[in-house]
Parts: sequence; structure tokens; C-alpha cells
Amino acid sequence: MSPALAVRDVETRELMDDPHADARMLARTYGRFGFVNALVSRPGTLYRRDILPRVERAERAGRLRILDVGAGGGDLCRLLAGRLRHDGYDAEITALDADERAIRWASAHDRGAGIRYRRALTTELVDAGDTYDVVLSNHVLHHLDEDELQTVLSDSMRLVAPGGLVSHHDIARSRTAHVLFAAATWPISRTLLADSFIREDGLISIRRSYTVAELTAIAPTGWTVRGGLPSRLELRWEEGSARS
Ligand SMILES: C[S@@+](CC[C@H](N)C(=O)[O-])C[C@H]1O[C@@H](n2cnc3c(N)ncnc32)[C@H](O)[C@@H]1O
Repeated sequence: MSPALAVRDVETRELMDDPHADARMLARTYGRFGFVNALVSRPGTLYRRDILPRVERAERAGRLRILDVGAGGGDLCRLLAGRLRHDGYDAEITALDADERAIRWASAHDRGAGIRYRRALTTELVDAGDTYDVVLSNHVLHHLDEDELQTVLSDSMRLVAPGGLVSHHDIARSRTAHVLFAAATWPISRTLLADSFIREDGLISIRRSYTVAELTAIAPTGWTVRGGLPSRLELRWEEGSARS
């Protein structure tokens, strides 16, 4: 790994997290998350491996409840809602984000998906006694400072119903990821990604992300970290694992 990527860059913040970020560019950024996630986040694998088996079980007991923490533009929620509906299943999907701007954009672009949108922190859901069959996130862990990360993880365990799953997905920091993302986004930086923070924030995100070893070292007891392609990681906890 090159020296710049050997350690996490926790000092540089994504432009989208700036409360004074240009509203038009932020909106275009939310609008482009779906394109990025389709390429790197493997939502189909999440659906087939983790959502489908649970919704089949939940059908007997009621609707599957899914919580997406840090849902951003809500594209993952809409994709899951669409796949579930296509396969004849009913689910209750909640898109949670700490940022009012994300929730406003996502709810205005629900496109009939029927997602519930909430501006809140996970702790507020814990306090309300809410529970879900699947608690997930995508590209959120690297946004959090150490305390926020531990809070989100302990809240996730409290929010998951018996037999449920917590699955936090993120980038695994590597020089390859940085070089490939820079190369893949350069030709479209003035067209598809123009007037958005996607390219710059994507590169910052890779520098802020954990390696599998780093996340394993700080994950509470009972959580497992798995690496995957392309430069992905998953921090996972299933009901029945040891609680810390
Ligand atoms: C890079 S975006 C990812 C959006 C979406 N999950 C995706 O994959 O496209 C990170 C999102 O996490 C949200 N976020 C950051 N910290 C959070 C927290 N503690 N609780 C809930 N959302 C948070 C941010 O507001 C932002 O919308």
C-alpha cells in the first residue's frame, strides 16, 4: 500500500458532509449513488444471500422489517423494495439518515417504493424500542468517528430482532481500490459525474475506509469481518452470536 493509504485518513472529510455544501451538487450526488452502488456494492448478492431467505421465513410470521442506516439517496432501499415486490413479498423498509438533506432528497425520489424515511440517529430508534429483522448500512462506517462507530454497532445489536442480522457494508481501503476508482471515474467526471461530489468524495472515502484487519481489531466481540470483491468489506453480527 502506498504511504498515503497505509493509514486511515481520518482528517479529511467528505464534501457531502459539509453542512454548507452546494445544494445542487449534493442533490446530484444523492442521485448518482445508485449508479456507483450498482457497480461496487453488489446489492444483488445482499438480496439473494441475506434478504431473500429471511423474507421467506418472515412471510410465515409477518412482514420483514429492514433498516438501512445512513441511507443517503435511498437507492439501496428502493432496489430492495423493487426486488421484494417483484418476487411477491411484502416488507417494511426504513431509510434512516442523520442528515435532513438526505432524507428530504430520498423521500422526494421514492418513486412509489413505499419506503419510510426518518431523520434520526440509531440511538433514537433504540430508545423508542424499535426492532428490525435486518439492520444494514452501506458506505457509512468510514464516515463515523470512533465513538460514533461503537454507538452504531451497539445500537444495531439492540435494534435487531431475535434471529435477525446486522450487516454493515463498506469499502476496504487499498491502493488498488484508489487507483481503480480514480481511473474508472476520470473519463466520466465531466459527463455522468459532473456537478456532483462522487469522484472527489469517493477518493476521500477510500482513504478514510478501514482494512479488514483494522476493522477486525476494533470490532466488538461476536462481530465478524469479511473481505470481498471489489475491495469490499462486511461487518456482520447475527442474533445468537456472543453479545459484548
Ligand atoms: C456515503 S453516504 C452513503 C449513502 C448510501 N448508504 C449509499 O450507499 O449510497 C453516507 C451517509 O451516511 C449518513 N450518516 C453519517 N453518519 C450517520 C449516523 N451516525 N447515523 C445515520 N446516518 C449517518 C450521511 O448523512 C450520509 O447520507
